[in-house]
Amino acid sequence: MDTEGTGLLITLEGIDGSGKSTLHESLKELLADLDPVFTREPGATWVGEQVRRAIKEQIDPVTEATLFVADHAAHLAKVVRPALAEGRLVITDRYSDSRYAYQSVTLQGIVPDPEGWLRAMHNGWTIIPDRTFLCVLPIDEALTRLKPDPQREHFEKREILEKVQNNYLAYAKAEPGRFVIVDAMLPPDTVAKFVADAIRQDQVSGKTKRRK
Ligand code: TYD
Repeated sequence: MDTEGTGLLITLEGIDGSGKSTLHESLKELLADLDPVFTREPGATWVGEQVRRAIKEQIDPVTEATLFVADHAAHLAKVVRPALAEGRLVITDRYSDSRYAYQSVTLQGIVPDPEGWLRAMHNGWTIIPDRTFLCVLPIDEALTRLKPDPQREHFEKREILEKVQNNYLAYAKAEPGRFVIVDAMLPPDTVAKFVADAIRQDQVSGKTKRRK
């Protein structure tokens, strides 16, 4: 498919503790007049429950990665594609860059070239976001914002988050037209206003684009 409706697809990305979910919540109020579809990965469909279980039980990195991809497929089929086809603005808390950034780390040494493998699994059928806001902050600050150690998910460790954030920054550097880096050390209200204004700008400039 060459085009995918006229809606706009916005993704929010960043490591755990970067304030991206708070930002997602704030945008609900700030952009209410645009009537966006607010959604998330994992968990927009029942597949997300299986992902949560796989994360909690640390069943196996490949199982976990493929379940994240399955969750993405269901999210696209049930939420994202229909909304974009109706011309809606879609704002999702995490999307495919989360897979590239996190699972490249968790699959290291398990599959050859994890990032290539992950991208190949998405290429040709996923929808590339129009704009991605990447919340960036020092790892120490992210860790202080997270739950106490025993309650954390296995991703929420310094060594992992450091690599994940470096991956995200590399993607932002490679695709400067899509990514906007957000300083997550700024007060949450300031961050939310900045992102809301930028989304309005994208909406106004009528970014009607061609999608693969
Ligand atoms: P999320 O729901 O954003 O975190 P929280 O439980 O703090 O609200 O995501 C759960 C975890 O899953 C988070 O540590 C990031 C990770 N994750 C991946 O590793 N790969 C992915 O593709 C996605 C969407 C999330």
